Amino acid sequence: MSGAPFRVELGDITPHNIKQLKKLNSVIFPVFYNDKFYRNVLEQGEFSKLAYFNDVVVGAVCCRLENCPNGPGKQVYIMTLGCLAPYRRLGTGTLLLEHIFKICRQRKDVDSICLHVQINNEEAIAFYQKFGFEITETEEAYYKRIEPASAYVLRRDTTGL
Ligand code: COA
Repeated sequence: MSGAPFRVELGDITPHNIKQLKKLNSVIFPVFYNDKFYRNVLEQGEFSKLAYFNDVVVGAVCCRLENCPNGPGKQVYIMTLGCLAPYRRLGTGTLLLEHIFKICRQRKDVDSICLHVQINNEEAIAFYQKFGFEITETEEAYYKRIEPASAYVLRRDTTGL
């Protein structure tokens, strides 16, 4: 991508554009997300956003807020965060992740942010490591229909965000 300057902006996910999110996720991720996933996304408010590159939808983040498994606080779980391949390395992923960081700074009840990535997803691992995430666990047979089936859990504390 070269030449004219570009704009990347975030927008809400609503019943009017949820089909764009479905299409986007079907292209970006090897995992199929069902209608329940998308109903849940619409209930998560600011934890889900679409990214527009010069007004065209190219990326999205979908998170949910949940109780920490090992403590009293809350964690943000990133269900999906992705950008169409031709538009990568232009800062869209950063903008989506910074949005989640901003919510965590504002809420103060969120202790950590975590997600699963397929163990061979070097791009995503490099991306999250740049933002202070660390591999904390490996879950064998996490994915049912894709190979490799193992996932890393990546996590970072919200302190210092
Ligand atoms: N190799 C090494 N580092 C990478 C990288 C890659 N392929 N992609 C991103 N990074 C790191 C770099 O440090 C980069 O900064 P730089 O471009 O100045 O060097 C930084 O992350 C920020 O990159 P950015 O342009 O904001 O990210 P992006 O828009 O390309 O999105 C992903 C990154 C991971 C979201 C994108 O590759 C993607 O959609 N992958 C498929 C979906 C996925 O696997 N999501 C993760 C699981 S939820």
